[in-house]
Amino acid sequence: MPRFAERAYNFSPGPAVLPLPVLEKVQKELLNYRECGASILEISHRSKDFLPILDETQQLFRQLTQLPDNYRLLFFSGGAQMQFSAVPLNLLSRSASNRASYAVTGKWGELALEEGKSYGSAEEWVHGRENRYNRIPTVHAEDLKQLKGSAYLHLTSNNTLYGTQWNHFPQTGEVPLVIDATSDILSREVDFSQFGLVYASLQKNLGPAGLTLVVVREDLLGYHLPQTPKLLRYQAIDSQNSLNNTINVFAVYVMRYVLEWYQEQGGVAAIEQQNRQKAKLLYDYLDESDFFLTNVNLPDRSLVNVIFDLPTTELLQQFLRECDEVGLLALKGHREVGGVRASLYNALPLAAVERLVEKMWDFERKALT
Ligand SMILES: Cc1ncc(COP(=O)(O)O)c(C=O)c1O
Repeated sequence: MPRFAERAYNFSPGPAVLPLPVLEKVQKELLNYRECGASILEISHRSKDFLPILDETQQLFRQLTQLPDNYRLLFFSGGAQMQFSAVPLNLLSRSASNRASYAVTGKWGELALEEGKSYGSAEEWVHGRENRYNRIPTVHAEDLKQLKGSAYLHLTSNNTLYGTQWNHFPQTGEVPLVIDATSDILSREVDFSQFGLVYASLQKNLGPAGLTLVVVREDLLGYHLPQTPKLLRYQAIDSQNSLNNTINVFAVYVMRYVLEWYQEQGGVAAIEQQNRQKAKLLYDYLDESDFFLTNVNLPDRSLVNVIFDLPTTELLQQFLRECDEVGLLALKGHREVGGVRASLYNALPLAAVERLVEKMWDFERKALT
């Protein structure tokens, strides 16, 4: 049954809203890509029409992040969760005892740690489990000392389910910092030179689902364990510029347009400013309200996933239903967390948050009278 004649406001946590001009370009070009006589969905990943797309996508990402030259850009299928396996397989042997450290600040960190344990001694380093992951743990000098001898420290920069985010990354010295940036990549300015490796599946801020970007410092290539499947070896993928097998051509193609759109917006600094504006609008409302509640520790609040709740389950259900009816979509919290989750990724316009806040005000007023 048709529900919306126009596009609604999509707060989905992923796959997430894409910039409208990007979708329009894709629509326009879909049948015959730049007069090559076929759709982008129908051409070879080794064709002269696709290779420049791959190259431009990598160049755009480098420009947007001011990525130092000693980092490589690789594409993998299997989503971010495949990197929960690929990271230990490729890096554990840097430690004589196959030891790696994990900061566990949410569900994705838990799963990454569990997977790491399959290949060596992956250990929890710090965690934020008290109060249902509502804060980022404080890192003490003693904690940093414990990292000595670790192959890497893995952390999740933004906790998509719980709405917390690392604002400052630990200074790990010789121990490479490995970041799962799936839900906040390119949402704020970050100095990539502090990381050994960053990975993110595309479906939030980079494009459609189906690929994962891995940004890895060159000196970390070549440490894979012997049992590492060939298509998960960073060195092997790097040596063939991610074309070892049929890459998801369409996902790279859309990513290029998404990155171009970010550049047109003024780059990551401008995107961050817009994201801060959107988040502030919603958090300011939550801070004023005694009806909508959030218990996320203030300094650790995520810019991109805003989590809150209502006083009763009945009111929550009613609020979600009414939002859906007026075209404020996908606001239901994750099944393990409940409540409301508003995902404010890069392509979500400020107008969507304005509309949401209006709806919240209206709902609160009616509920209290
Ligand atoms: C931070 C984070 N890591 C990992 C994942 C899993 O991603 P994928 O479905 O691409 O494996 C998600 C998905 O939402 C996520 O938010």
